[in-house]
Amino acid sequence: MTAEPLGATGTDAVPLFLRDCWYMACLGDTVRTGGLKREMLLGEPVLIGRGRDGKVFAMRDICPHRGVPLSAGKVLADNTVECPYHGWRFKGDGQCSLIPSLVGGEAIEAAKIKVRAYHACEQDGLIWVYMPAPGRETATPRGEPPKVDVPNPKPRWHVSQLFQCAIDHAVIGLMDPAHAPYVHGRWWWRVRMKEKQKNYAPLANGFVMTRHKPSKPMYGILGADVSTEITFELPSVRFENIEGTILGRKIKVVGFTACTPRDADTTQVTQIFYWPAWLGFIRPFFMVLGPTFLGDDRRMVEMQKEGLKFNPSLMLIQDSDQPAIWYHRLKKAWADSVANGTEFVNPVKPRTLKWRS
Ligand code: FES
Ligand SMILES: [Fe+2]
Repeated sequence: MTAEPLGATGTDAVPLFLRDCWYMACLGDTVRTGGLKREMLLGEPVLIGRGRDGKVFAMRDICPHRGVPLSAGKVLADNTVECPYHGWRFKGDGQCSLIPSLVGGEAIEAAKIKVRAYHACEQDGLIWVYMPAPGRETATPRGEPPKVDVPNPKPRWHVSQLFQCAIDHAVIGLMDPAHAPYVHGRWWWRVRMKEKQKNYAPLANGFVMTRHKPSKPMYGILGADVSTEITFELPSVRFENIEGTILGRKIKVVGFTACTPRDADTTQVTQIFYWPAWLGFIRPFFMVLGPTFLGDDRRMVEMQKEGLKFNPSLMLIQDSDQPAIWYHRLKKAWADSVANGTEFVNPVKPRTLKWRS
C-alpha cells in the first residue's frame, strides 16, 4: 500500500475547468421548440435555445447592449432571439440582425455586433455545449460528445441534483469504490464488505472498468447472465453499459452520469437511464433507488465541504483511490495538450485494482 498526498499526482497547477471539451448542459426535453433557457456552465451564463425549426443553439446569456439576459427574451418566427429590453435581435450564431431603434444613417451597424456563440448539439436526448479555450471560440470542436450505445437512445428515467462542491469532488465521489458500504448502506440495502478485484484499461479520453459480472444482487432484475462495464471519460461523464437477458431477449441498459460544473462551487450531477421501451416495468425500481443514492452522495460532499474550508492537504491511497489518481492525471494531460496545442496522450495503463468494499 502506498499513500500519496493529492499534490503528488503533479496536478496542483491544473485549472479547475477543462476547456476544449463538450459538457452536458441539460436534457433536450427541458428546452421546448421556440424556448430559451439559462444554464450556468463553468461559471459562464449560457443561453440555450431551440429554434422553431427544432434546432438547438447556445450563446452567452448577456445582451451586448446593456447586459440583460437574452434568455428572458423570446424566439421570433425567423429563429432570432429578441432581447426583452430594447428588442435587439440575434441569430443562433450570435450575430446581431436588428437594432429596432436605428432610423438609418447612424454610424452603428448591427452586423458588426456579435454575442459569443457556443457550439451546441443534441443527441441521445441530451444537449451538449462545447466550452472552448480562450481564443478558440470559433475553432472546430475537438471531437464529438460521447454517444449512448443503445438502439434509439431515449432517456427513460433521470434524476438531477445540485451538489455544493467543486467538479473534482463530484467526479471523484462518483468513481470512488470504497465509500459505498458507508454512504449507501441501509438496513434494507445491506452491503457486506468483501475483497474486490477489477480490471481497468485506457479509453480514448478516459478509462474503463472492463466487463464483469456485477456483485450487487439488484442487477438480477436484468436477468441471470448480467454483465457490466463502467467507463469514465473527460471531462466528467460516466457510462455504465449493462447487458443481460430478459424473457429470452438480449437487452442493453445504459446508466449515464454527467457532472456539469455550474461554477467553481456547484456541480450538477445528472443520472439518466436508457433501456428498450418494452422494459418500462423496471422504471419504479429506479424511481426509488436513484434519488436516494444520489442524495447520499450529495450529502457527503456537502459534509466534506466543512473540512475543505480549512484547505487541508488530502491523500489518495492505492488501490481504492487509483481511479481518482487517474482522473487527476487525465485532467493534467488534457490541460497540457490544450495549453501547448499538442495531441492528448492518455496516461492510464491497463491495470488490475484490488480493494475491500
Ligand atoms: S439590453 Fe438588450 S437590447 Fe438593450
Ligand atoms: Fe456513491
